[in-house]
Amino acid sequence: MTDNAAQDWEEQARNWIAWARKPDFDSYWRYRNEFFALVPPPGTATVDIGCGEGRVSRDLAAQGHTVTGVDAAPTMIAAAREADPKGTYLQGDAADLPFEDGSFDVAVAYNTLMDVTDLPGSIHEAARVLTPGGRLCISITHPIVNTGTMVDGTFVLDQPYFETRRFTDLVERTG
Ligand SMILES: C[S@@+](CC[C@H](N)C(=O)[O-])C[C@H]1O[C@@H](n2cnc3c(N)ncnc32)[C@H](O)[C@@H]1O
Repeated sequence: MTDNAAQDWEEQARNWIAWARKPDFDSYWRYRNEFFALVPPPGTATVDIGCGEGRVSRDLAAQGHTVTGVDAAPTMIAAAREADPKGTYLQGDAADLPFEDGSFDVAVAYNTLMDVTDLPGSIHEAARVLTPGGRLCISITHPIVNTGTMVDGTFVLDQPYFETRRFTDLVERTG
């Protein structure tokens, strides 16, 4: 694995898989239809960058997309393959995608890009693997969420907002 953030995801993969597969547990279940409304109709091929255990890929496939999922964490890829044996899932880094130029007409990165170490490199790679006129559709947590804490019901900014920094957000909820 190419970076620390990806290694963190591999270490937490079992927890993430349980989290992501519990219906209605996180915001995916509330936001996904709004997100899918942004995604163009199925074309020739769609790549799901940072596919995790594969829930977005499976939902896109159910809508007619021919999806290739890619994720840096091998345990995520194994889980995605197990849940969707006919699907295509590959281990790879968003900043060094294992595809030829112009391989896809749609690229999706659902809650992935805030987690990659090399954001400019990842955007560059998404552009490279898209055909001219192809579409990159992203969902991303707003960075302000990680610059403060709730204090007596008020959100207080206690971290720099305009600086680049790495943080670890370890969340536990109902086990
Ligand atoms: C918040 S999870 C989202 C997973 C999936 N898109 C979903 O919504 O269920 C972020 C994913 O990004 C992956 N990831 C982190 N850094 C990556 C990188 N450099 N390249 C590819 N995937 C990466 C993690 O392994 C993890 O599966």
